[in-house]
This record gives sequence, C-alpha cells and structure tokens, in this order.
Amino acid sequence: VRRALAPRDPALEVRALGLTFPSPVGLAAGFDKDAAGVRQLAALGFGFVEVGTVTPQPQPGNPKPRLFRLERDRALVNRLGFNNRGADAARRRLERARGGTRGPFVVGVNVGRNKSTPDERAADDYVAAATRLAPVADYLVVNVSSPNTPGLRDLQAAERLRPLLERVRAAVPGTPLLVKIAPDLADEEVDALADLALACGIDGIVATNTSVERANLATPAAKIHAIGAGGLSGRPIAERSLHILARLRARVGDRLVLVAAGGVEDADAAWARIEAGATLVQLYTGFVYGGPGTPARVARGLAAKARARGYSRVQDAVGGRAAP
Ligand code: FNR
Repeated sequence: VRRALAPRDPALEVRALGLTFPSPVGLAAGFDKDAAGVRQLAALGFGFVEVGTVTPQPQPGNPKPRLFRLERDRALVNRLGFNNRGADAARRRLERARGGTRGPFVVGVNVGRNKSTPDERAADDYVAAATRLAPVADYLVVNVSSPNTPGLRDLQAAERLRPLLERVRAAVPGTPLLVKIAPDLADEEVDALADLALACGIDGIVATNTSVERANLATPAAKIHAIGAGGLSGRPIAERSLHILARLRARVGDRLVLVAAGGVEDADAAWARIEAGATLVQLYTGFVYGGPGTPARVARGLAAKARARGYSRVQDAVGGRAAP
C-alpha cells in the first residue's frame, strides 16, 4: 500500500519542530485513539499521525450512538468522550509499531484528562499522560478543546491554562509540545492563548478542534436536534478554523508552528491554510468522506500547486511568502 499510495516527493518534505515530515498532510487526533494502526495509516500517505486523545487511565467514553454523519454538510457530529485504553496501552502499542525507535513518519500523541478526575487535579492527568508517552512521541499535544469531557474547554481560560502548560512543559522538556484549541473562541481569547503559548515555551498550536456551534447547516434542524450534543467537524467549520489560523498567524508570525485542522478536504483548502500560515495540515472528516485515497490526493495536489507557483517546496509558501 505504501508503495502504491504514499507520495515520495521532496517538494512535500517539511522541517518543523526539529522533525522531518515526509508530507505536511497529517491525520488529526481522534481517528487512531489507541495507536492501533499508525504504520498502516502512514502507508496511505499521511506524513504524520496524531494518535489519541490518550488519557492516563483507560475509559469507555460515552454511550452509543455517539458519532453521526451530516452528509448534506460533509460534516460529522461526535460525542465519543475520549474512549481509549489508557496511556500504558498506547505506549506499548507505539513501542511495538516503531520497533522502539523513531519511524519513517512522524507520530504525535494528543493527551487529555480522564472524565472521573476532579477538575482541580486535571493538570496532574496531563502531566501523567505526557510523561508516560513522551518517550514514544515525536511531539505531544495538550488537548483542552474537546467539547465531550465536561469542564475540559474551561481549561482554555488563560489563568487556568498557564499553570497547566507550565507543568506539562517542565515535565517533558525534550519533546516538542503543542496546544490544541477550539474554533469557538473569541478573537481576543485566541490572541491571549497565542501570547500564553509563547510565554510558556510551547512550540505550536493545533487550530482547531470541533465546534459546539450549529450555524449554517443544510441538514434539517429536526435532525440536528435529534442528534444532540457533540462536536461538529468538517466543511461547516472550515471558515471559522481558517479565521482562527489567520488570527494566530497575525499574532505570532513564525514564532509558533501552526497546525491547521477543520474542514480541510482537498488540496485547495489545504493550500489556503498553508498560505494563511499553517506549516502542517490535518484531516479527519475529509478523510472519512473522501476515503483512503484522500491523504495522497491532497499531498499530490499541494506539490503540484507549489510547483505551478514557482516554489520548490510547499513549505516555502507558508504564510504566503513570495516565490523566489
Ligand atoms: C475528533 N477530534 C478529536 N480531537 C482531539 O484532539 N482528540 C480527540 O480524541 C478527537 N476525537 C475526534 C473524534 C471524531 C469522530 C472526530 C470527527 C473528531 C477532532 C479532530 O482531531 C479535528 O480537530 C476536527 O475534527 C476538525 O477537523 P476535520 O474533521 O474538520 O478535518
């Protein structure tokens, strides 16, 4: 599968976070929650796979049904609630998948808190999961933006996020560390988070997670209502995610590595994120609707766009830099 699908094109290679990504097109967190298939997913042409969200202890997540298609909107609503086998299991899986060493693709690990952990001990969970998984992670992501763990997104408030980020940063000094944010933040909150990330020595931001908003959907309101709570992903959040990315870029320039997620389903959308300042792009819902050929298709499309515009590498176009 790797030989047939995974693009090997030097124009796609990205250097960021001290790592070399074979392609800027990655799989967003929440697809491979337990690191069950990182090598197989990379073989489809993903340049990197973000596993998780992994919590310290195993937990079942919410009762089913908990994942819904909004086909007319090319969207999903999920309230999985961090179903996963826990940090020890994920670590063992990753040790095996990589033969104990760094592989030919990049693996990020996205960490979160257990539902049963009291709010005042939430930071302990992030530190525990990050510490346990750092030895098998090329980078780590602090996920404070899932809508499906009560209280989780409240951790995005600067006064709560600062001690959390400081503690995780200190616990995994050698590992690139990012924070993942919601699309439902106000512009001022985005600015404050960007400033905080810089102040805490965070290396980058993943923008964005799923949305609790339900605006501008083609799916009938009665169906939306029947589905109920959860995070909306896919095409309807694309505009908002792009806006947040652009806001971050304006605030931090290239001082943070920006990873775009939210409604990217083709090379046009991926290119727009790169021009807006994303060094890396992630897919989830676009992969679900587009099928297994999606990552290779998007990556090849990006390489073609770069060449057509006079860049020798996609990375040269990050932030809309002029071609040489
Ligand atoms: C997600 N997402 C997600 N994010 C995260 O940080 N931890 C997680 O465990 C999950 N789980 C998850 C499950 C499902 C079913 C979906 C659809 C999404 C969010 C995901 O990584 C991504 O940020 C958003 O879905 C936006 O990207 P797309 O789907 O619009 O490309």
